[in-house]
Amino acid sequence: MTANPEASKCSKNANKGVPIHVAIIMDGNGRWAESRCLDVSEGHLAGFQNLQRVVSDFAQRGVRYLTMYAFSTENWDRPESEVNGILELAIAVIAHETQQLNENGVRIKHLGRVDRLSPELRDELEQAVEMTANNTGLTLGIAFDYGGRAEIANAARKMIKDGLLASEIDEKKFSEYLYTSDMPDVDLLIRTGGDFRISNFLLWQTAYSEFYSSEILWPDFYGEHIKEAFESFNERQRRFGKRL
Ligand code: FPP
Repeated sequence: MTANPEASKCSKNANKGVPIHVAIIMDGNGRWAESRCLDVSEGHLAGFQNLQRVVSDFAQRGVRYLTMYAFSTENWDRPESEVNGILELAIAVIAHETQQLNENGVRIKHLGRVDRLSPELRDELEQAVEMTANNTGLTLGIAFDYGGRAEIANAARKMIKDGLLASEIDEKKFSEYLYTSDMPDVDLLIRTGGDFRISNFLLWQTAYSEFYSSEILWPDFYGEHIKEAFESFNERQRRFGKRL
């Protein structure tokens, strides 16, 4: 119940619409596995299977850009067996899914460092990006060996290498040097697994994103949960710092 029922008379219309760019922190794979006495690798596999299940749901809801946090610059510090499991899963996933995604008109983009990836994973990623480059459907951003701070530092380095003058550097120019140069800012940032942290994800691109945290662990986040996230987004009034 509203504290002041009269207040609704004065409230501005909520910002109805579909988030064009949704970014997801797919947290909770480990807990999902633990609660079933399974190895963490089973949790990541279930996480991937959920990703496979939900992509078309987001596309059908009108989302044009979906960016998934698959592996962060900090995830290298996890136990070696877990890291190797994720890397192997990523190779298998990209090798097996790209054809189908391509047929569905999905454009795959990689966000992150490539220099620390194995040649096999780098090749799979490059091929997937190349094969789908001209597709005009959903853009699926795979953030792999991604860190928001590293991305910003990398952009600064590249601008210096390109010989840009200080007077040429503004927010628009800076955006052009990020991994997301041809993507709009994030409208809706979803984090599963119950935490309220940004965890070094898309620091620049989420400046005015709406944040939605769900208790649901990533492998179980589909259907009704996605609907609830969109309903919550629709209730938000986005002001971008202005007085409406
Ligand atoms: C976070 O859960 C999840 C990850 C670090 C890995 C996510 C990877 C996938 C779903 C595989 C998808 C692969 C590609 C190439 C798109 P967590 O392990 O931190 O969970 P916890 O907080 O319960 O421990």
